[in-house]
Amino acid sequence: MTSLKIVGCVVLVLLLGTLLEIAHLHAFADHQLLSVVSEVENRSNSPQEIVSLSSQDSFFDYSSTAVERSDDPTPSRQDSASTVPIIKYSSTVHIRSKEAFLWKGAQSRLCKRIKREKQKLENRNSTNTTLNLYLELPCKQIHDRNQHGNFLMGFYGMKLAAMHFQVDFTFHCHEDVVANRSSDRNKKYLFWWLQSLPNKRGFLNESATDYGINNTLYRPPIPSKEGACKGVGKVALHYTSELARRDLRAMATMLKPSFKRNHETMKESRSHTFRLDEVAIHFRCGDILSKSIPKSDNNYGLLQFRAYRDRIPANVTSIGIVTAPLAASDSRSQDRVHTPMCRAIVDKLVRYLRLHFPRTKVKVRNDPKESIPQVMSRMILANYSFCVRSTFCLFPALASFGTSYVQAGGLAWFFEPISEVYDNIFLMQGNFLKSAEINEKGFNYTLEWLVSEKKKLPLV
Ligand SMILES: *[C@@H]1O[C@H](CO)[C@@H](O)[C@H](O)[C@H]1NC(C)=O
Ligand SMILES: *[C@@H]1O[C@H](CO)[C@@H](O)[C@H](O)[C@H]1NC(C)=O
Ligand SMILES: *[C@@H]1O[C@H](CO)[C@@H](O)[C@H](O)[C@H]1NC(C)=O
Ligand SMILES: *[C@@H]1O[C@H](CO)[C@@H](O)[C@H](O)[C@H]1NC(C)=O
Ligand SMILES: *[C@@H]1O[C@H](CO)[C@@H](O)[C@H](O)[C@H]1NC(C)=O
Ligand SMILES: *[C@@H]1O[C@H](CO)[C@@H](O)[C@H](O)[C@H]1NC(C)=O
Ligand SMILES: *[C@@H]1O[C@H](CO)[C@@H](O)[C@H](O)[C@H]1NC(C)=O
Ligand SMILES: *[C@@H]1O[C@H](CO)[C@@H](O)[C@H](O)[C@H]1NC(C)=O
Ligand SMILES: *[C@@H]1O[C@H](CO)[C@@H](O)[C@H](O)[C@H]1NC(C)=O
Repeated sequence: MTSLKIVGCVVLVLLLGTLLEIAHLHAFADHQLLSVVSEVENRSNSPQEIVSLSSQDSFFDYSSTAVERSDDPTPSRQDSASTVPIIKYSSTVHIRSKEAFLWKGAQSRLCKRIKREKQKLENRNSTNTTLNLYLELPCKQIHDRNQHGNFLMGFYGMKLAAMHFQVDFTFHCHEDVVANRSSDRNKKYLFWWLQSLPNKRGFLNESATDYGINNTLYRPPIPSKEGACKGVGKVALHYTSELARRDLRAMATMLKPSFKRNHETMKESRSHTFRLDEVAIHFRCGDILSKSIPKSDNNYGLLQFRAYRDRIPANVTSIGIVTAPLAASDSRSQDRVHTPMCRAIVDKLVRYLRLHFPRTKVKVRNDPKESIPQVMSRMILANYSFCVRSTFCLFPALASFGTSYVQAGGLAWFFEPISEVYDNIFLMQGNFLKSAEINEKGFNYTLEWLVSEKKKLPLV
């Protein structure tokens, strides 16, 4: 298997900052996001020349923004599968930072740009030429931001725009382009898996026709401008469901051998042989306990544990609680201060599940040595998975080979049409304690509420 074939899968993520766009979704300040210095390629120079940009709202940028034209409309052939060809398209549009990831109006800027470039092509009377949207990102830096779910969402947002305008789309990790090869070392970065693959004809773009993997799913079959060009909270991301499933399922399938089968009799090994669980519960804690989340925010909070109990069959052999590492040193900075509380809540969940599923192994799955692609694969490969108000688990839930349950509303705004189309994806409406209520009622109340069956408890 060559590494480029492995690269095959696809896609993901969005900036947490994009949440700022939805009035009712509170965004946690992401100062990191605004200050990361990005390596970017100055395309008019040699590919080796990297410049560093420190920019308020950009993490990548390209000096060359003009549409490149070459006399030969055919992309250069890819000679070796382990090589990342820098393809010259007859008409390539480099997605710029301010147009990427649904970030603060980015989607509408991206749509306007594609429209403009398409118009230019038509004016040149070359209706025969396809536009290719080209995205190149420093995949390690994207990884280091720890906003995997948000970037994933934003990535599919860009594909959605391409789908609406019926243009091609190509994505590569900057690292691979510079090295002129795809390195397995970068497998630990989610975006490495989302790079464009060579198709049968050796092209590395995703052709407009690929979007019709199954174009009978939604109405209209191709997303309208109204659906495709909006921001977080509104954009019709469900149109990308088939792409996301294809990409993420391919990733999970490739990574499956890195997990060991969970035989009851086998002891959990101390080496890094991670075991898959039959049930994967993604449990978001950390920043949702922040005191700065306003009362009006309906998105963040905790789901009453009975929501899991009611849906997990009694005969499952193992349940894994997929959560962030609970050691302060391994957690995201925005989660760190809440680590002791999260530990208590996760512990409560473990004991609750052990009580109600006495014959089932219940484990916390948060080994920092597990890569993000592996963590997402856990959810995709599980027979049952749960996703509650987190962008991290939304696309894995969508790509799941098993049955997945997604808490309705908030970040899952685009899941209603998805749950209607796929018979293994269900929206759920469990009792939910909002972040502001957690703060108001206190930690002891919250712990008691989580294991109760009532919507409200008397305050003691
Ligand atoms: C890119 O290269 C051109 C030509 O060498 C130069 O004029 C320009 O300043 C460079 N852009 C950046 C962002 O360094
Ligand atoms: C476009 O090309 C067609 C045929 O190739 C030609 O008949 C037509 O006049 C051209 N239009 C313009 C605006 O150049
Ligand atoms: C593109 O142009 C070539 C000749 O230049 C022609 O054979 C081909 O049919 C055209 N394709 C489309 C889709 O117009
Ligand atoms: C990339 O690798 C291919 C095949 O090994 C080679 O033909 C090509 O010249 C290389 N490109 C650059 C920019 O080094
Ligand atoms: C993208 O690939 C398809 C083949 O899958 C090809 O027909 C199309 O011309 C390519 N796009 C560009 C801009 O080269
Ligand atoms: C599209 O998806 C629907 C629902 O899953 C299925 O019934 C239909 O056969 C699919 N069509 C194609 C062309 O794959
Ligand atoms: C899912 O269920 C099947 C059939 O019961 C079982 O063989 C498989 O091991 C289960 N998957 C996981 C990840 O436990
Ligand atoms: C587990 O229980 C479900 C019903 O709750 C049943 O459909 C399934 O076949 C059972 N699986 C096994 C392996 O017994
Ligand atoms: C929470 O409960 C613990 C014992 O379970 C008790 O020691 C502590 O004082 C309680 N905290 C509050 C704020 O009531």
